[in-house]
Amino acid sequence: MANPSAWWLNCPYLSRMLAMATVVQTRDLTKEYRGGEVVHALRGVNFTAEQGQFIAVMGASGSGKSTLLHLMGGLDLPTSGQILVEGRDITRMSDRERTLFRRRRVGVIFQAFNLLPTLSAAENVILPLLVDGATRLSFEAKADELLSLVDLAHRRTHRPQALSGGEQQRVAIARALANDPVIVLADEPTGNLDSRHTDEIWQLLRKLASERGCTVIAVTHEARGAAYADRAIVLKDGLTVGEIQVDGTGDAALVAASYTKLAD
Ligand SMILES: Nc1ncnc2c1ncn2[C@@H]1O[C@H](COP(=O)(O)OP(=O)(O)OP(=O)(O)O)[C@@H](O)[C@H]1O
Ligand SMILES: [Mg+2]
Repeated sequence: MANPSAWWLNCPYLSRMLAMATVVQTRDLTKEYRGGEVVHALRGVNFTAEQGQFIAVMGASGSGKSTLLHLMGGLDLPTSGQILVEGRDITRMSDRERTLFRRRRVGVIFQAFNLLPTLSAAENVILPLLVDGATRLSFEAKADELLSLVDLAHRRTHRPQALSGGEQQRVAIARALANDPVIVLADEPTGNLDSRHTDEIWQLLRKLASERGCTVIAVTHEARGAAYADRAIVLKDGLTVGEIQVDGTGDAALVAASYTKLAD
């Protein structure tokens, strides 16, 4: 019998509204880098991401994209402002809490794949689990599950040098998912790839949001990549200057035209 307390599941609009949970929220986020001259990398960014959304972060070089991504992943601390992840302000966590937060709630993908050359694809994928002490059996099951997700089950014993660039980045994505993160952060994940592999990676990130419910936040210069997202936010000189509703249309021309208007 259907659960009577979940009657709203039969109302598509209502169930969608109730199911949408805010996963990341930044409030008046600023970041200054102080060396010689002070750099105001972020100057008051307010940003919200819901569960299962795929959001692209666009903007010219130096506009603060990587800084924002690093702060949301707990890789660095802001100068002021709040970063709420699943309702908890990560800027107020102790160093140990923030380390655990990074390890268990966040998956990170960079432009460089950063795979260990002496390990197989499967071993690279489960590397993050080694620090959390799971059993050997659960490691192998996890590696199989994640390599299947990225369509690389047939390459599990290959070392990185025996994989194409696109395949290496898919292993890196599988590794980012090892701890079942709630947020997946990607900084120009296709920067080192040719156009064929580029589309594969964007499709995969789309799938992580739509099918696994991850909140995916990806920095990109490419309208073609942002076209797979639900929304694209545009940064300029450390501030958000606007947002493009993409809704996964795959319409790169629309994204490019809107981006040019906002970024100019
Ligand atoms: N560790 C740092 N020390 C000093 N300044 C920094 C540091 N990291 C970044 N910056 C400066 O902060 C600003 C924002 O940098 P950020 O890396 O966030 O830009 P970005 O939008 O990711 O650029 P790109 O597209 O080139 O990667 C830039 O002016 C940059 O020079
Ligand atoms: Mg950057």
